[in-house]
Amino acid sequence: MVVPMDTDNKFFNVGLLLVATLIAAKLISALILPRSRKRLPPVVSTLPVVGGLLRFLKGPIVMLREEYPKLGSVFTLNLLNKKITFLIGPEVSAHFFKASESDLSQQEVYQFNVPTFGPGVVFDVDYTIRQEQFRFFTEALRVTKLKGYVDQMVMEAEDYFSKWGDSGEVDLKYELEHLIILTASRCLLGREVREKLFDDVSALFHDLDNGMLPISVIFPYLPIPAHRRRDQARKKLAAIFASIISSRKLAAKSEDDMLQSFIDSKYKDGRPTTEAEVTGLLIAALFAGQHTSSITSTWTGAYLLSNKKYLTEVLDEQKNLMGKHGDKVDHDILSEMDVLYRCIKEALRLHPPLIMLLRSSHSDFSVTTRDGKEYDIPKGHIVATSPAFANRLPHIYKDPDTYDPNRFAAGREEDKLAGAFSYISFGGGRHGCLGEPFAYLQIKAIWSRLLRNFELELISPFPEIDWNAMVVGVKGKVMVRYKRQQLPVN
Ligand code: HEM
Repeated sequence: MVVPMDTDNKFFNVGLLLVATLIAAKLISALILPRSRKRLPPVVSTLPVVGGLLRFLKGPIVMLREEYPKLGSVFTLNLLNKKITFLIGPEVSAHFFKASESDLSQQEVYQFNVPTFGPGVVFDVDYTIRQEQFRFFTEALRVTKLKGYVDQMVMEAEDYFSKWGDSGEVDLKYELEHLIILTASRCLLGREVREKLFDDVSALFHDLDNGMLPISVIFPYLPIPAHRRRDQARKKLAAIFASIISSRKLAAKSEDDMLQSFIDSKYKDGRPTTEAEVTGLLIAALFAGQHTSSITSTWTGAYLLSNKKYLTEVLDEQKNLMGKHGDKVDHDILSEMDVLYRCIKEALRLHPPLIMLLRSSHSDFSVTTRDGKEYDIPKGHIVATSPAFANRLPHIYKDPDTYDPNRFAAGREEDKLAGAFSYISFGGGRHGCLGEPFAYLQIKAIWSRLLRNFELELISPFPEIDWNAMVVGVKGKVMVRYKRQQLPVN
């Protein structure tokens, strides 16, 4: 009897243990495991294997337009062996912009820039060095330096437009691209390049540019002719800058440009920059600033010349400033051009040239959407946000597809009402654009000169967006009829 009782007890105990284990497992899984499973973002439904790639190749913005209304502000796309989680809107993208490099890094996702920028700079170095190199950018773009650059920008613009006839027709897109290469050469690459080597250096930059194709993002070292030309151009540029740098050092000459600023920069341990690093940083600056600025100048023009109301407002502002300062334009006068500033900012809201920003996630994090849904984004995901999509969210911007520069004016300030990261054409937070003031000054210097000296009329249809470009810009020509005419003073 005892034995069976014991056996019964044993069975009873084992049974109890089993039930307890099951309940515990159920509880644990309810509390922990499924929590991360349950709270994973919804996934874009696609065909198996290559479906995600096909959706992405159709155009990331097309995909966002289709999926955002269905899935909301946080969702994941399976792209081959990667998971890309999109965070759209200020409510869910704060972590994207604020996280430390150890949590969300740029290095892996922007690796494709390495063969273009060259070794030893930016995404080829670890974060501590990169931070120091970004400090060099910050120093090169300080207000005191910007004041000097503005004088050069104004000179370049005056010189360039003085070569236009009294009247005629031009492709505004081509003209502004060209002028911005000249200005960027002068302010960033320096006098030697601008005065003596402009044609050679711009041809080499052209090869670098053409070597950055959509395929280069996935296979930056693929042995294709465009990449070979890129690598040769990179080598030749390094040789040209090495010679300029050493002759500046030899002559103990100092200039007022970004090149000089990078030559004079020192790491925290006292080490000066090498010639190769200076070359790489200059290339990075040109890649960051040139297309982005010329595209924005062109959109600004297209909108101003298609909107009489805003054209009149910017012209009035120019007339008032001319009444106050004469025809002079310098850093401080450009800083008074608030109406023009808002017109540029609005063109850039509608058409941010960098349409997608990326990070690689190294630790799990959670986000809460504006309707209170919580999602956990696991480490290992690529995390993305999109200025082109987020800048047009209707709960932030009234009539988001309408060009309305006054949405940024005092009293409305739609970009501030919804909090930080509502306007992300320049990114924001930890990696926000370091060239934003430079870009505005450059675009204002160009447009104030055009508005003061010419009557302009857009004669081609309003331009379309060239979604296929790496830096998304204006498709086709933007034909403008001009007549030289001095703006009257108020
Ligand atoms: C309209 C013109 C411009 C636009 C729209 C623009 C846009 C941006 C954006 C969106 C980012 C953030 C990228 C990210 O978060 O992944 C960025 C970063 C950066 N930009 Fe610009 N940019 C412009 C002009 C310039 C110019 C003129 C320069 C320099 C001369 C410049 C230098 C930089 C640098 C160095 C960074 C990296 C900052 C960091 O990672 O800490 N940009 N820019």
